Amino acid sequence: MRQLNTNVYAVGAIDWDAKLFDRLIPLPDGTSYNSYLVRGSEKTALIDTVDPAKTDVLLGNIVGAGVDKLDYIVANHAEQDHSGSLPDMLLLYPDAKVVTNPKCKEMLKDLLGIEDEKFVTVEDGQEISLGDKTLKFVYTPWVHWPETMSTYLPEEKILFSCDFFGAHLATSSLFVEDEAAVYESAKRYYAEIMMPFRKQINANLAKLDELEIEMIAPSHGPAYDRPEFIIDAYKDWASDNVKNEVVVAYVSMHGSTGKMVSHFVEALIESGIKVRQFELATVDIGKLAMALVDAATIVIGSPTVLVGPHPCAAYAAFLANALRPRTRFVSIIGSYGWGGKMVEQLTAMMPNIKAEIIEPVLAKGEPKQADYAALDRLAEEILTKHKEAGIVN
Ligand code: FEO
Repeated sequence: MRQLNTNVYAVGAIDWDAKLFDRLIPLPDGTSYNSYLVRGSEKTALIDTVDPAKTDVLLGNIVGAGVDKLDYIVANHAEQDHSGSLPDMLLLYPDAKVVTNPKCKEMLKDLLGIEDEKFVTVEDGQEISLGDKTLKFVYTPWVHWPETMSTYLPEEKILFSCDFFGAHLATSSLFVEDEAAVYESAKRYYAEIMMPFRKQINANLAKLDELEIEMIAPSHGPAYDRPEFIIDAYKDWASDNVKNEVVVAYVSMHGSTGKMVSHFVEALIESGIKVRQFELATVDIGKLAMALVDAATIVIGSPTVLVGPHPCAAYAAFLANALRPRTRFVSIIGSYGWGGKMVEQLTAMMPNIKAEIIEPVLAKGEPKQADYAALDRLAEEILTKHKEAGIVN
């Protein structure tokens, strides 16, 4: 247990060995499931719990802190990495009430079988007194589920934001020490989880502007004692401002698409555009997702397989579509043996990306001189489009 502020303690768990979240998202730096104990002069509250696999750590921290009575357990979010220890907590502290919003309550009943009488529901802006401390509940929906909310402690000016502003980062530091490292982890987290909800994030950021916040304590990663660092990063990532960057995500079977990608990337670099190139059979999808946060243009490179795109290229298109980046332009390059519907199938897989499709470049077999010239023209056209859209470095 570590002290965050006066009578506010971090009692969660660091998961150094976590490698994959939701059986999908790589966790190169582990993660943490943060839970916070707030001791008021009259009542004690726990804010969020931890992943069920780490329940013993949470219980050990709370029992070790000598908490003999827990009045409230705030559930800011129903997902199990924060709610999964609730049933065990309620066994240990049977008189505790689960404080959450009505939507989250129904989800917790569905997910964890918690009985109706265990809940106290709160409306947006409602407060609960702990004596000399107050918990104010601020609805911050869709970061990243519909029921998500934050809890504000006005006396200490701390915002407990759960997933919002989180970072999958296992660290012994209670507060951010290395801002560059945390920026990387927080951006990866934003890209993989928050990016599809940009509009709602902007609304939530505007709402938080009304609060005086001196500290943000999320439920993954270290706490921010300089909250403007992460708030400004979110304002940048969630804005409409893309950068003069192209993500080239490709796969090649026998080298033709690979040669096209190499030539095309060189042409882009020579024109002054920043490029991030990803080989899709071996890619860390977190890095690809992060690159999608900023890039004005995505170009997918694929050979034709069974008349359609290579499955790795299809996966990238599916992922990009799900993540809904603010991409302005999309194109496709690649090769084919005798024909196919690769372009039609790939573009049909990205209906959520409201981007202009720039004429693809396809080579029959090995790329020839005319194909390389077409790739040069594609690079020029992308530069022109970026300039016309006012996208500059
Ligand atoms: Fe960290 Fe949406 O759970």
